[in-house]
Amino acid sequence: MRGEPTILPLRLSGVCYEAGGRVLLDGLDLTLNGPSRTVILGHNGAGKSLTLRLCHGLLRPTRGRIEWLGPGAAMAGRSRHAMVFQRPVLLRRSVRANLVHALSLAGIGGRGTRRCLADEALERFRLTDLADRPARVLSGGEQQRLALARAWVLKPEVLFLDEPTANLDPAATRAVEAMIDTFHGEGVKVVMTTHDLGQARRLADEILFLHAGRLVERAAARAFFESPQSPEAAAFLAGSLSF
Ligand SMILES: Nc1ncnc2c1ncn2[C@@H]1O[C@H](COP(=O)(O)OP(=O)(O)O)[C@@H](O)[C@H]1O
Ligand SMILES: [Mg+2]
Repeated sequence: MRGEPTILPLRLSGVCYEAGGRVLLDGLDLTLNGPSRTVILGHNGAGKSLTLRLCHGLLRPTRGRIEWLGPGAAMAGRSRHAMVFQRPVLLRRSVRANLVHALSLAGIGGRGTRRCLADEALERFRLTDLADRPARVLSGGEQQRLALARAWVLKPEVLFLDEPTANLDPAATRAVEAMIDTFHGEGVKVVMTTHDLGQARRLADEILFLHAGRLVERAAARAFFESPQSPEAAAFLAGSLSF
C-alpha cells in the first residue's frame, strides 16, 4: 500500500446511531489519521463495536456523516479497510482456501497469483503447517491468526479489530498482538477495541474513551493512563484496577 494514495483521514461528523427507540451513539465527532494505533475503550455497551461497524461501513449512521477524505478514497472503497471480529467467521474449507477465497472475492489476481499470495500470508502468520486443515477445526488462537492473515492478504490501509483477543489465552493473545504489530509496522492504521487494559497499554498510541454512546475523552495513551481528564475515564480506570 505504500506510495499509493491514501483513503485516510476518516471523518465522523455528528454521527448518531439509534435502534429500538434508543440513542446508542450520540453525536460522535472525530477524525482518524494514520498510522497511529487507536484503541477504543469503555464499559460494556458503551458503543465501541457499533463505532467500528459504522466506520467499516457495515452499518449506516441514522444521523451525521462518515467520510473517507483522502485522495485514494474515490477509487478504492471497501477493500482498503478490513475488519476482524471477536469470533472469526470462517468458511468450511481449508485454511489456504479461506485465503484464496478472500482474494477471489476481492477480484485480486488469477488462480496462480492468489495461491502465491495465500502462501505468503500463511508463512507470515505462521499458518503454513495448517494450510490444508479445515479452518473450523483450528484452535481459537489459530482461527484468529487466520482471520488476520485473511485481512492482510487484501493489503488494507486501515484495520478495524473488535476485541480480537477476547476469547484467547495469554499465549495466543500475545501471538495476535505480535501480528497486530506486523500490520502497524507495515504502515497500516490500526483501530481496535479491547476490554484488556494491559493490552491497551501495550498497543495503543492514542485512546478514544466512549461512555454511554458519547466520545468523552481522546488522548495520547500515556497521558490517558497517567491522568485521565474526564471523571468517567478516571472511574473506568479506577474500577478496572480493582478487579
Ligand atoms: N442492532 C442493535 N439494536 C439495538 N441495540 C443495539 C444494536 N446493536 C447494539 N445495540 C446496543 O447498543 C449498545 C452499544 O453496543 P456495542 O457497540 O456492542 O457496545 P460495546 O461494544 O461498547 O460493548 C448496547 O447497549 C447494545 O445492546
Ligand atoms: Mg463490543
